[in-house]
Amino acid sequence: MANDLLDTATADLFGADVADVPLIEANPAPILAGTAEREERELNSSLKNVSGLGAAEDAEADCALLHPFGDVPDVPDVPPNNGAGSSGTAGGTADVPDVPALADLIEAATAGEGGDTEETAVPSVPEDERPCFKVYDDWTLLDTGRRLRPGVWLHGMSKPKKEEMPVPVDSWVCGPLHIEAQTFDGGENNFGRLLRFKNTAGRWRSWAMPMELLKGDGSDLRGELLAMGLELDPLARQTLARYLQERTPKKRIRCALQVGWCGGVFVLPDAVIGPNAAGVIFQSGERSHDEHGQAGTLDGWQAEIAARAVENPLFLLALSAAFAGPLLKRTNTEGGGLHFVGDSSTGKTTILEAACSVWGGPGYRRSWRATANGMEGAAALLNDCLLALDEISECDPREVGAIVYSLGNGRGKQRASRTGAARSVTRWQAFIVSTGERTIGTTMMEGGQRTKAGQAVRLLDIPAARRFGCFDELHGMATGTALSDAIKRAATQHHGRAGRAFLERLTHDERDMAGMLERLKALPAFNPAEAEGQDKRAASRFALLALAGELATEYGITGWPEQAALDAAVIGFQAWRTMRGGGNDERRQILDKLAGFLERHGDSRFSDWTADGAAIRDRAGWWKPDDVGGRLYLFNADGLREALKGFDFKRALDVLESCGVIPKASATGERSKTENVGGRKVRVYPVRADALHGVGNGA
Ligand SMILES: Nc1ncnc2c1ncn2[C@@H]1O[C@H](COP(=O)(O)OP(=O)(O)OP(=O)(O)O)[C@@H](O)[C@H]1O
Ligand SMILES: [Mg+2]
Repeated sequence: MANDLLDTATADLFGADVADVPLIEANPAPILAGTAEREERELNSSLKNVSGLGAAEDAEADCALLHPFGDVPDVPDVPPNNGAGSSGTAGGTADVPDVPALADLIEAATAGEGGDTEETAVPSVPEDERPCFKVYDDWTLLDTGRRLRPGVWLHGMSKPKKEEMPVPVDSWVCGPLHIEAQTFDGGENNFGRLLRFKNTAGRWRSWAMPMELLKGDGSDLRGELLAMGLELDPLARQTLARYLQERTPKKRIRCALQVGWCGGVFVLPDAVIGPNAAGVIFQSGERSHDEHGQAGTLDGWQAEIAARAVENPLFLLALSAAFAGPLLKRTNTEGGGLHFVGDSSTGKTTILEAACSVWGGPGYRRSWRATANGMEGAAALLNDCLLALDEISECDPREVGAIVYSLGNGRGKQRASRTGAARSVTRWQAFIVSTGERTIGTTMMEGGQRTKAGQAVRLLDIPAARRFGCFDELHGMATGTALSDAIKRAATQHHGRAGRAFLERLTHDERDMAGMLERLKALPAFNPAEAEGQDKRAASRFALLALAGELATEYGITGWPEQAALDAAVIGFQAWRTMRGGGNDERRQILDKLAGFLERHGDSRFSDWTADGAAIRDRAGWWKPDDVGGRLYLFNADGLREALKGFDFKRALDVLESCGVIPKASATGERSKTENVGGRKVRVYPVRADALHGVGNGA
């Protein structure tokens, strides 16, 4: 009975041109020797009776599959198969149904491994159909009396010695594994196979396997399959590769190599959301993508996370940011993000984790502690979503600049991961939320780099200094600490639901998002009187956040009052402008420090450069008149270091140069100059006192 079912089910998936696909001659690996298969044989007393194999182990090993497979034109279909392929579920996922109905039937027909109840024997494969592969989802009794363990079996013939006749040889290749469909991307590249297999725990799972994993000796592929729980005969390597390439399934599915939009649908590692979700699947050379995990409920998320963002504009902004990723493409907006800056223990990581909870669990958050390349890999998995980067101080300051650029560019270097997964993923974008105790500019300066305007506008610094750290309203909690801890706890309990709910609505929302964004951008709040180019770019970012938050509210996901997201975006925009032009950035502090030093010591620790000034104690330098009637201070190295104490010396010099206080460095990077003072040559740092004041007040 089971066999009939298998044949019928197989026919519609693998109907075609079997004869055109001869098996490829393989390296004659001794597939049976020393494997679980052999043990099973030894246990199976019926084997010798039926197959007529000699009893000696040596003979058994020798006869294994040395048959010239290439000459056998007629290869039967690979049974059994439930023909399920990939189809969209009500929720829009393109995953293969977990347990096929067929397997259930077979399960019922056969009575588990023990075989206590009576089994129906299936005919063994006739000699003229060999070699061929067959898949048995469960233990199967052959009419020869032999019981086959579940899995893919190669039914071949022995290579006889001398005068002997070839005899049938059945060898186990791996656990039950069906090849459901062929996959390829929109450009007819990155071909793959949609596999469905049973893991050691007895559960079915599916995986779109990139064909390129079959290259070389295929060890990466075997590694991935083993890790996912498929059992393999370690000696049947070539046979497994041959099985996987034996024929091309007729069913075709488009694969997406990265998370994010794929035409009108949105692809997540384990689900595809949108009106035509059934024809698309996520294909990756790597198995685990725990970033997009789900837990708890949307209601729970709304009550314990979203509700607490009301009256807390920074928190609300961070949550809006989580919904902004999918809108980047819909509105043709450049990638970029926010960087929350503030003292330790103010709740920055807390609101970042809350933002992550829109998409996934604790594994979603990334750390800045990564090279630019690792970051690109992350961005491929988080494409069109949120990229949450915690704690900028963990990153090598010299790399921050490159990372910020690569994040904003949406283009990665051509690079392959171990399994080749990220190779084709060279374009991506995400909305970024980052945290740290220092601004992007300050961190870059630590690494001896100057922030370029393009970098400053990619990650907008937002001061996380509200009434209670990041928060304004504690929602009945006694302290900021209590609120922070409650939010962190809730994020581990309820996550991954809100983002999917948002996508379910967004993929069906055909309104002109770009037009809606334009209308928001035109609001007076985003167009202050003296706005420059950078203000406009920043304003667009905040307008996008307003759009994202308001949409999420309209879709019933946040439970926020109308306009709450818009208000938070306006507050964020103002906070960014205040910080950028405001009085507490490091540049201003450096200039003030130096000006204060000159005020206190300008007359006592400096003297006219023409005199030798022997009376000066703790000399910090000399001065000479500059061309505008002021003083040009010639600091000695110790004097300038003392004046800039508390700042990184090199970084402070960069700041001073950028403000025109000290001259540009020489070609060799030398900043001090040789001057003739009091008749001798000394190395000094010339500091223009007037520039110091002029810039200090202005910027
Ligand atoms: N607004 C707040 N007021 C008081 N305590 C807070 C506040 N926010 C967080 N905390 C406390 O600080 C702890 C760390 O929170 P969180 O990780 O969000 O801080 P952070 O701002 O990221 O700090 P750091 O800069 O050190 O990473 C929390 O467990 C909580 O005890
Ligand atoms: Mg933190």
